[in-house]
Amino acid sequence: MTRRIADLLKNGQPDESVKVQGWVRTKRELKEFTFVEVNDGSSLANLQVVLNQDLPDYAIILKQLNTGASLEVEGVLVSSPAKGQRIELKASAVKVYGEADPETYPLQKKRHSFEFLREIGHLRSRTNSFGAVFRVRNACATAIHQFFQERGFIWVHSPIITASDCEGAGEMFAVTSLNLKDVPRTEKQEIDYSKDFFGRPAYLTVSGQLEAEVMAMAFSNVYTFGPTFRAENSNTSRHLAEFWMVEPEMAFCDLEGDMDLAEEFLKYIFKYVLDNCPEDMEFFNQRIDNSVLATAENIINNQFERLTYTDAIALLEKADKQFEYPVSWGLDLQSEHERYLAEELFKKPVIVTDYPAKIKAFYMRLNDDEKTVRAMDILAPKIGEIIGGSQREERLEMLQQRIESMGINATDLWWYLDLRRFGTVPHAGFGLGFERLVQFMTGMGNIRDVIPFPRAPLSVEF
Ligand code: 4AD
Ligand code: MG
Repeated sequence: MTRRIADLLKNGQPDESVKVQGWVRTKRELKEFTFVEVNDGSSLANLQVVLNQDLPDYAIILKQLNTGASLEVEGVLVSSPAKGQRIELKASAVKVYGEADPETYPLQKKRHSFEFLREIGHLRSRTNSFGAVFRVRNACATAIHQFFQERGFIWVHSPIITASDCEGAGEMFAVTSLNLKDVPRTEKQEIDYSKDFFGRPAYLTVSGQLEAEVMAMAFSNVYTFGPTFRAENSNTSRHLAEFWMVEPEMAFCDLEGDMDLAEEFLKYIFKYVLDNCPEDMEFFNQRIDNSVLATAENIINNQFERLTYTDAIALLEKADKQFEYPVSWGLDLQSEHERYLAEELFKKPVIVTDYPAKIKAFYMRLNDDEKTVRAMDILAPKIGEIIGGSQREERLEMLQQRIESMGINATDLWWYLDLRRFGTVPHAGFGLGFERLVQFMTGMGNIRDVIPFPRAPLSVEF
C-alpha cells in the first residue's frame, strides 16, 4: 500500500519495504547514484529517494525525473547519513507517471514571488509556501468543526443563493437565468423578474446569519461554515469577492457570552494549529513573518482587550499619530484605526463593543441609550477586523422600527420577523472571516495567497 510521506518521515523504520507516490522537487546527480526529493503534499519536508545506478533503466528514468515530474517509488527505508533527516528511501523500482519539461515547467528551484505564483494558480500549491498555507488552512477548518462539535453546536448549511441582503450593504452579486442579451421588460421598462428563475431577484449570499438565526431558534447553538460573496470593488490585501465565513449563533446568549465564545474559539484554533502543524508554523516564522509564533503564543495566553467604541474613539483622538481618515464619534473605524488599537496600543486582539447604531446592520440590538447597538468587532494586529458580531434585536417592535428607520423592505423579512413573534429569545452570534484568520495565523500578507482559488476584482481565471 502507498504510504504518505509525512507518515514515513515520522514513523518509518529502517528495513521497511514501502511504496510512495508524489512529485519531484529536485534532483541531484552524483557519480554512482542520484538523490531525488519527492513531495506528496502531506508535509513540508520531502522524502529523499536514492536511485542507484544499478537500478533497471537508470539512465532513462534519470532523464525523465525533472522537477515537477510525477512518480511512484518502491524500495526499502534506510537510516539516512545526511543531516536533518532520519530516513531515506532506497529505490528498487521507479515508475514515472508524467514528465515535466524543464524548459517549460514554470516552477524551478529558485524562489518565486507570490505575484508571479498568482499567475500560475494551477501550479502554485506545489511550492513550499502554498503547501504550508493550505495544510494550515485545513487544520484551521478542522479545529473550527472540532471546537463547535465538542460544545454541542449543530453545523447548519445556509444557502448560497438567497433573496435577502443580510448586511444591508448592497454589495451582492445577482443570480439570474435571464438572457442578458434580451432581458424581459415590464410595461414600465423595468426588468421583469417574474420571468426569472426564482420569479424575483436573487443573489449570492453575503452571510448565512439570518438562516443561522432560524436554526438557532430550534437547536439553540448552531454554526455555519461556507462560502460567502461580496461584490465590493475593494482591491485590498484583506478583501475577497468570495470568502469563507464561520458564523455561530447562540440562543439564550447575550453579548458577553458572544465575546467569551469568540475569544475561546480563537485561542482554541491557534492552539490546535501549533499542536498539529509545528513544521509549517516554524516555516512561516522563518520565511514569511518572524512574529507568527510569538503572536500565536500571545493569543493563547493573554486575555483580549475589551472596550467600547466610545472609549476607542477617545483613545484614537488622543493618539500621537496622523491618520489618513478622520476620527470622530459616529464614523466607522477604518483599517488604520483598527490596526493602531490592536497593533500599537494594546499589542493584542481588541474587542470593540457598542458601535453607533447608524453604522451597523439592522439586526443588532439597540442599547438603552438608543444611540448605540450591542455590536462587537474583534480587531487583530496586522489584520484589523477579523470577527464581526452582535447580540441580535429579539424584540419585535424594536426590530420593526429599526428596519423601517433604515429604509429596508420589511415584507421580504416576514419570516425573520416571525422568529420574534413565536418564542423569541435573547440571542447572539458572530462571523469570523476564515481567510483573515489564515492570514493572521500564517503571517501571509495578501488574502489572495491563503485561498486556493482567489476571487477578487478581475481575478477568476483558475
Ligand atoms: O462583519 P461582517 O460583515 O459580519 C457579518 O456578515 C455578520 N452577518 C456576521 C454575524 O454576526 N453572523 O463579516 C464578518 C467577517 C469580518 O469580520 C471579516 O473578517 C470577514 O467576515 N469579511 C471578509 N473577509 C474577506 N473578504 C471580504 N470582502 C470580507 N468581508 C467581511
Ligand atoms: Mg464587520
